[in-house]
Amino acid sequence: MAKGKQIYNGKAKTLFEGPDEGTIIQHFKDDATAGNGLKHAIIPGKGALNNRISSHILTQLEAIGIPTHFIRSLNMREQLVRKVDIIPVEVVVRNILAGTICKKLGLEEGEKLPEALLEFYYKKDELNDPLISADHIVTLGWAEEYELEEIVDYALRINDFLSGMFAAIGLRLVDFKLEFGRIEDEDGFVSIVLADEFSPDNCRLWDMETGEKMDKDRFRRDLGDLIDGYEVIAKKLGLIPQDCTVRKENGDVDEKLFERLSLIENKYRVA
Ligand code: TMP
Repeated sequence: MAKGKQIYNGKAKTLFEGPDEGTIIQHFKDDATAGNGLKHAIIPGKGALNNRISSHILTQLEAIGIPTHFIRSLNMREQLVRKVDIIPVEVVVRNILAGTICKKLGLEEGEKLPEALLEFYYKKDELNDPLISADHIVTLGWAEEYELEEIVDYALRINDFLSGMFAAIGLRLVDFKLEFGRIEDEDGFVSIVLADEFSPDNCRLWDMETGEKMDKDRFRRDLGDLIDGYEVIAKKLGLIPQDCTVRKENGDVDEKLFERLSLIENKYRVA
């Protein structure tokens, strides 16, 4: 599919104009960053794995009635998505204490929270995405109160569904980040949809038996090879055959494997 002009070049993704009005082609890069870009590396295979994992998860979420921007996967690194008007708020859902909440509040990592804890962050790189309250979002006009209620409802439903889905394959969903946007249909009706990706870049997944961290903390905290963790997640989800590895012996990504998987998927896709 022919890409239009580049409209955004982010830390982990590049966006291009899509083939039809209101569509975007999202290209997943191999770049890994942490600490708002202070730590950076190129990790071959990351983009392809995230594209695959995120396509799968957003498809599952659509199936349980969560509207998303996802249309379909195009190839190993790209997916077609709907253009949305992004709400400048990151929603973090926490089930187990980990990451910045431990640092900021002096809490021990690993404790299970009695119920899901929601946090909001203002999307502003220059300000390091500060923590904000629900009141900030409504009073400063980033979302209407009814929109925020819908976002919270979606976030909690996503948490319930994905916690169960990952538990079934031996992974604990510790926390994750979501972004939402608005889409307007032909009749001018505006609705909230889940935008951005859902991948091990923006969630924490721990092995339920060993406690091993399989997500981007491997990179953030130098805990081990990132691709090994992401590959385990993809295999547990059934997205990569068990007897395949995403890297060849020389360390290069096995592009043929991803191309084959993408072809099979598109062959059986219902238009
Ligand atoms: P934190 O512990 O760094 O606050 O992150 C909580 C979860 O949200 C973790 O799974 C990583 C994810 N996250 C992002 O992907 N991007 C972000 O900008 C933030 C603040 C969190």
